[in-house]
Order: sequence, then C-alpha cells, then structure tokens
Amino acid sequence: MSINVGIAGLGVVAQGLLDLAKANTVQLDEITGDTVRVSRVASRRLRDEVELGSTAFSTDLNDLISDNDLDLVIELIGGTDAAYDLIKSCLNQGRGVITANKAVLATHGNELLAIARERNVPLAFEAAVAGGIPIIAALKTRFPANNIQWLTGIINGTCNYILTAMSEEGVAFEDALRTAQELGYAEADPTFDVGGMDAAQKLAILVALAFDVPIEIDEVYCEGIEDITIDDIRHADEFGYSIKHLAIGRQDDDVIEMRVHPALVPKENLLAKVNGVENAVQLGTANTGVLRFTGPGAGGHATASSVIADLTNIASGLYRHPGIGGSELNARSIGDVASPFFLSIAATDRPGVIASIGETLARHGISIASMVQKQEEVVRSVDTAVIPVVILTNSVVERELDQSLKELESLADIASPIKKIRVVDFA
Ligand SMILES: NC(=O)c1ccc[n+]([C@@H]2O[C@H](COP(=O)([O-])OP(=O)(O)OC[C@H]3O[C@@H](n4cnc5c(N)ncnc54)[C@H](OP(=O)(O)O)[C@@H]3O)[C@@H](O)[C@H]2O)c1
Repeated sequence: MSINVGIAGLGVVAQGLLDLAKANTVQLDEITGDTVRVSRVASRRLRDEVELGSTAFSTDLNDLISDNDLDLVIELIGGTDAAYDLIKSCLNQGRGVITANKAVLATHGNELLAIARERNVPLAFEAAVAGGIPIIAALKTRFPANNIQWLTGIINGTCNYILTAMSEEGVAFEDALRTAQELGYAEADPTFDVGGMDAAQKLAILVALAFDVPIEIDEVYCEGIEDITIDDIRHADEFGYSIKHLAIGRQDDDVIEMRVHPALVPKENLLAKVNGVENAVQLGTANTGVLRFTGPGAGGHATASSVIADLTNIASGLYRHPGIGGSELNARSIGDVASPFFLSIAATDRPGVIASIGETLARHGISIASMVQKQEEVVRSVDTAVIPVVILTNSVVERELDQSLKELESLADIASPIKKIRVVDFA
C-alpha cells in the first residue's frame, strides 16, 4: 500500500523533510510496511533550490484539503491563522496532521487536539518543541511510575546563543544579537525570541503534556534576556553561576507554576553547560531522579527528523493521542513563587549604606547568603561615588522580595531600579 503525504510550506523544515524522505525512502518503507510518497506540496511560491520531480505543486493551501488521495498533511508554514485553518479543515475531514508549529498549538492546541480525538485522527507535533530532541514522545508516555514533578529547559536557541556569546566572548547583548542575526540564529525582528514568547509557547505545550492540563499560554510568566548585561554575567560567574534563559514548569499540591525568564544556574548543573544554539530539557521525577535530554533545537534536518518520527509512528499504527487537559490548570502567580535571588544594587559609597540594605531585607524576613561590594567598580563623579553591591539571597517569596526592593529603592542612597534575577537549582 502507499501512504500519500501532502506538505504545506517549502521553507527550512520542509526542505529538510524532502531531503530526509528522499535519502531514507527504503528505511521508511521498511519501518511502516508501506510506501511513503510525498505526492503534493502547497506553498506561497516555488523555490528554485527545490527539485520536486513528479510531486504536484500549487500555491493554494486548499489543494491539500481537496486532494482526496492524501492520507496525511504535514503543516510547515508556521504562524497561527492559515495554519489553524488548514489543520482544522484536515482534521474535520478525518485526515491526520503532523505539525512543527508551536505557535498554532499554543494558541489553538486545545481545540485542535479535541477535534483530533473526536474524529480519531492523529495530530502529531514532535518537532514543535526542541526541534530534534524527542521530548514530546518522552512526555507522552508520562512515565507512569516516575511521577514528573518539574521540568526545566533551555528551549530557545537564540537566547542561549546570545547568552553564551556574552559569557564566553565578553560581548554586549546588542553585539551578540547582531552576530546571531548574521549567522541566521536570530530573526530580523528578534523580539519574539529574545523577549521570551517563543519559549513561553513551547513551555505551555510541555507543561500540558507533563501534567495532563490544558495548554494555557496566558498563564505563562514571561521575561526575556534584553536587560541582561555583561556585569550581571560576570558577577553571577564570581558567585559560581551561569545566566541562562530557562523555561520552568512545576507542580506542587495541584498548583502549577509556568515561567520563562533569565536565571542563575549553578555551573555544575547540566543546563549551565548547554551552550550556543543547543537545547536541553530536564525532568525531575519522584522515582527516577532527574532525566536529561539535550540536542539540536532547530535546523532543517534535525527538525525534519522529528517530523519523520511522527510520520513513521502514524504509518506504523503506533500513534496515540496525547494526554492533555485531563485536569484543570490551577496556575501559581509569579508573586507566590519562592526562589533565591541575585540582586544588583547601585549604592552611594558611604558608611552605613550596606547596613541599611541588610536591615531592610532582614525586616522583610530575607536572609543574605552572600554579599559583595565591588570596590574596584566604583563610579566616581564630582560629589558622589556609586558602588555596585551584589547579593545572593536565600529562598524568598517573590512578592515579599518586591516589597523590600520598593522600600530600598526609596532610600536616597540607592539608585533605582534594583536588578533582580531568580536563581534556579531544582536538580
Ligand atoms: N526552522 C527550524 O529550525 C524550526 C525548528 C522547530 C520548529 N520549526 C517550525 O517549523 C515551521 C516551519 O518553519 P521554517 O523554519 O521551515 O519556516 P520558513 O523557512 O519560513 O518556511 C515557511 C514556508 O511556508 C510558506 N508559507 C508561509 N505562510 C504561508 C501561507 N500562508 N500560505 C502558503 N505558504 C506559506 C513560506 O513561503 P515563502 O517561501 O514564500 O516564504 C515558506 O516556504 C514553523 O512552525 C516553525 O516554528 C522550525
């Protein structure tokens, strides 16, 4: 028998998929027991670099819906609107879909997965999070005897490339971003990546799978890396930490926290050693300890290999619907999350200032694990000298910390705003 596949899009991942499908025809047929054939491609335009042979091509996505010979459609156009219409129409027709599109899943995933389940057709999305790493397959099994308690990940390659370059080469954020753009690791408009939204969408999907809750992108607390400076990275390093952009999901007493933000990670933690555009996800489980997954989070071939994994699963009859939305998502607000903090304070260099910082924090029940005055970094002007003071606190509820910082910032000797970065070390 032959399995006829239609592809939407002819970009990076679609081209990677066409390459891999061609190079692995025999293996694919052997695994599935059928002949897998890309019989139609629809995209905005034909690309000169692509050789489609006998595969039908059109610029109208509707041709993927009306072609009754197609068994499966692989959506690789990205974005939300056209992708949503295409996926929904295919599913409603009883046709299975594979997608690499985290944006459409983060926005419409609950509805689309419900349709797929109702019509009993596959909607597979291994490539949508962490490109070539099989984290969706791992989470779909949900490790029944393991009891996942938390997950942390580096799931945006652009942020990780920039932070690695800042740390290893001592370049400023803007320079690292420019290089990332030149190398094709960042978009011309990088806001979605460096602002954290891309990681937030992926986290919402991972959390839904890990804890059997709906995909709730609006409940993800999201901060980007735009305000991280070379000084922050250097000061964190002196305390024994790297700064990484992390995605964190944690379940505790049926309350779930979902957050993406820069974080200090102890240098001995695996995540501190994940550099450049690599991705990594750690799963904290009750019975198996910490499970670690690392690998390429993007790239045409790496991402297409995940699409092929979905394809072979479906064609071999191994696909099963993900467990998502079995229970309500009761989200913890960021103000209620407790963690240690790194604080960077610009203080007037005069006697008594350090004592008043300590007293103010103590009044709010915040204890200091380490505090260093960066005497060598004093900035002098005609009538003042400002000294950076860097502090590591012990664990504190964020709302309480914010109150103490507001009080500190109102002091004449403290320049506002105080920089705070969360410290994360679940492992
Ligand atoms: N690139 C990666 O490494 C990677 C990794 C993981 C997941 N993904 C996901 O994979 C998907 C595809 O990414 P990509 O990097 O391959 O994107 P891409 O290179 O921009 O390719 C998108 C393709 O779809 C076409 N297209 C876009 N909107 C269309 C529309 N409304 N109608 C018809 N055709 C349309 C584009 O046409 P033009 O040729 O005219 O631009 C292009 O051929 C996205 O959801 C992305 O998030 C990508």
